[in-house]
Amino acid sequence: MTAKVAVIVGSLRKGSVNRQFAQALAKLARPKLDLQIVEIGDLPLYNEDLEAEPPASVVRFKHQIESADAVLFVTPEYNRTFSGALKNAIEWGSRPWGKTSWPGKPGAIVGATLGTVGTAAAQSQLRSVIAHIGIPLLAGPEIYLNFRPDTLKDGEIADEGFRTLLTDWTAKFADWIGRLKAPAFSF
Ligand code: FNR
Repeated sequence: MTAKVAVIVGSLRKGSVNRQFAQALAKLARPKLDLQIVEIGDLPLYNEDLEAEPPASVVRFKHQIESADAVLFVTPEYNRTFSGALKNAIEWGSRPWGKTSWPGKPGAIVGATLGTVGTAAAQSQLRSVIAHIGIPLLAGPEIYLNFRPDTLKDGEIADEGFRTLLTDWTAKFADWIGRLKAPAFSF
């Protein structure tokens, strides 16, 4: 069965390499995974005062997370960590107190930069935050993409070796989702 994955891209810019990567990964991951980008650019800056009457964008965002089988974070690296936009979305998903949308959702992180670091620093920091909100994360394979002009061809991953790695990642993430969806115990 195809698992439905909510994809959060941590960059808001139109030409984002992370968004392009997420779109290419969505093509490659079918039919094991149905990757759907959940927009975060219209979320207001998190403010506890807004919780009593949350804006429509927040209600929509939480619903999309809750109705997905799993969550994929596609992170850029800004100043050696993940973006403020992504942290803001995490905040909204975690509130109001007692109504967090995250716990127990199987998750994974991938990311792309223009530099050779490939989001290693950002992913390391994001992992500790994601652990805190109760998302069990896929341990590997880790995906750190140094995005170059020839990374994509016609919207698809051009390099065969990287495609093979992503195919393996897809199978492992689908397996991870399947295991965590199975009932823990039943009579
Ligand atoms: C960057 N960039 C960057 N790259 C990196 O490898 N490590 C870093 O710490 C940073 N820091 C950083 C800060 C800020 C504010 C910006 C705007 C950029 C470069 C970054 O990898 C590049 O701009 C990517 O294109 C960002 O991803 P998106 O927005 O294209 O998805």
